[in-house]
Amino acid sequence: MPALRRMVAETRLHPADLILPAFVREGVAEPVPIGAMPGVVQHTRDTLRKAAVEAVSAGISGIMLFGVPEDAKKDALGTAGTDPDGILQQALRDVRSEVGDELVVMSDLCLDEYTDHGHCGVLDAEGRVDNDATLERYAEMAQVQADAGAHVVGPSGMMDGQIGVIRDALDTIGREDVAVLAYTAKYTSAFYGPFREAVGSSLRGDRKTYQQDPANARESLRELALDLAEGADMVMVKPAGPYLDILAKVAESADVPVAAYQISGEYAMIEAAAEKGWIDRDAAIMESLTGIRRAGARMILTYWATEVAQRLNRG
Ligand code: PBG
Repeated sequence: MPALRRMVAETRLHPADLILPAFVREGVAEPVPIGAMPGVVQHTRDTLRKAAVEAVSAGISGIMLFGVPEDAKKDALGTAGTDPDGILQQALRDVRSEVGDELVVMSDLCLDEYTDHGHCGVLDAEGRVDNDATLERYAEMAQVQADAGAHVVGPSGMMDGQIGVIRDALDTIGREDVAVLAYTAKYTSAFYGPFREAVGSSLRGDRKTYQQDPANARESLRELALDLAEGADMVMVKPAGPYLDILAKVAESADVPVAAYQISGEYAMIEAAAEKGWIDRDAAIMESLTGIRRAGARMILTYWATEVAQRLNRG
């Protein structure tokens, strides 16, 4: 009997569990569909504002913004990422002016959208990602994003020491109020494929030197200890579906809120199978999210956030 099952369910999804990742593209007059993510677009500044308002009405808790600069603005250092008038900074101001504090406004803190080589950091003379030089860029980025109105910054580049450097940079400008959501366990993943289209990534090669190896679990607990010691306010596991064991371990040991990111490839798989009539789309979406909550995520970043919240509100 449905009422009985509902009464005894151990895991519930609530709109407030959900955070919407959203892309905003510079210099476009209309939203641009993302081929591998049917239903997801690169927003114009204007449609992003509308998506934020819709997210508030649906009752989700947050939005995570990713900026997509004009190609001509990409360079080796990713300077558009620290330009106060860069696309992400403009979008942060837009969204804050639209929704104020009704939504937690988060910003992706990473260079890959802005570098012409597509890596998450700057490169050394041999073309390798230079961890410490990248930290200096992240510090500046955190300050610029805080100035633009981010409530939370989300460092997704997996550089060693990034959380401490970002925390210090924010405190130095008196922004102790801006929280840091650390991408603590971020695995190198084939499931990021559609995202690379979503942000028009220039990456050739891979991120295996700075993202975690899918074969390893214990490393995540070490990353967790480091991020907490450096001052992370919240931690995240990413991707979500293929890493539920990691999520469960992290959730068990962390004494801060734990998020999971249901990423582009997880989205694309369900949408593609549903389009072919091979799967019940809505049921698969709800099951995938319930599994992520059950494994221990307090918050879930999902491209279905607004849609699912609307469905939950209908009961
Ligand atoms: C890197 C970043 C990635 C995603 C979010 N931030 C891609 C990567 O590491 O290559 C992926 C998100 C998704 O696939 O939905 N800044």
